[in-house]
Amino acid sequence: MPRVARNDPYVLAMNALHVGARPEELPCRTAEYEEIYKAVTGLLEDGSGGCIYISGVPGTGKTATVHNIARKLQQLAKSDEFEPFTYVEINGLKIPEPVAAYSLLWEAVSGHDAKKHGHSRISAKEALKRLTKHFDTAAGEDDPPWCAGLLRVVLMDELDQLMTAKQDVVYNFFNWPTLPGSRLIVIAVANTHDMPERVMSGKVRSRLGMQRINFKPYHWEQLREIVEARLKSAVPRSGKTVEILSKDSILFAARKVASVSGDARRVLDICRYVCTSPLGIYD
Ligand SMILES: Nc1ncnc2c1ncn2[C@@H]1O[C@H](COP(=O)(O)OP(=O)(O)OP(=O)(O)O)[C@@H](O)[C@H]1O
Ligand SMILES: [Mg+2]
Repeated sequence: MPRVARNDPYVLAMNALHVGARPEELPCRTAEYEEIYKAVTGLLEDGSGGCIYISGVPGTGKTATVHNIARKLQQLAKSDEFEPFTYVEINGLKIPEPVAAYSLLWEAVSGHDAKKHGHSRISAKEALKRLTKHFDTAAGEDDPPWCAGLLRVVLMDELDQLMTAKQDVVYNFFNWPTLPGSRLIVIAVANTHDMPERVMSGKVRSRLGMQRINFKPYHWEQLREIVEARLKSAVPRSGKTVEILSKDSILFAARKVASVSGDARRVLDICRYVCTSPLGIYD
């Protein structure tokens, strides 16, 4: 019988273990969080822009960490503790072709509200023309007032998918932050730490700068901690806690996944599956 009650500890646990859940705290990623946070705010204090390169194998919390930082900075901006900024996410796997990234960035730069009005119909070619003009005129001096001097933070996720034969899209996104007064911060996320040396031309690599952060695969203690923290957050309103997964089941899943990949997505999926299973892992 499906478990539907909102107070059902099994349903709560399954929701908490879902890979789509967005926990506010990411255990075992505090150091990486701090490092990226410092890098972003440092670039901001410099008053210009810059790139941060993040790498790590799948499921190591790269996207989740950047999302949490963006959320935190947006909250701070709302309460006037941080400068307001436009945040845009460009995911190489979610756009039809790499050049579509230009249209998304132009929307952010021009203040187009895609949530309200849908995506603008400007072609990628036109968007590139406008972006080039915007960033080439120092501090956007030719821009209308709503466009000039604002801070923009761009997450370029799944960077591998944005590489073209000419590497022009990635080159432009890494080059614009280096222009005076651009106030553009690019956070590039990829799966391999040596992608700049292996794939990028010297011209592209030189724009990337020195800020690189690598996310190592999780080891089993970390995977166990991640699962336990998620289960801990799933307390029913009654306050009554039930052991949804035994310590041994979690340990077993964590060790298995760590020996293969260290992918948090995998361990969460396995534990969630065991929660759904009426039999449990050892039955
Ligand atoms: N430290 C953590 N604590 C809690 N959940 C985590 C942690 N690290 C990763 N996760 C969860 O694991 C899943 C995968 O994380 P994420 O998408 O950030 O990985 P990724 O490194 O971006 O992977 P990919 O390279 O495949 O995009 C998400 O559901 C995320 O919330
Ligand atoms: Mg990701």
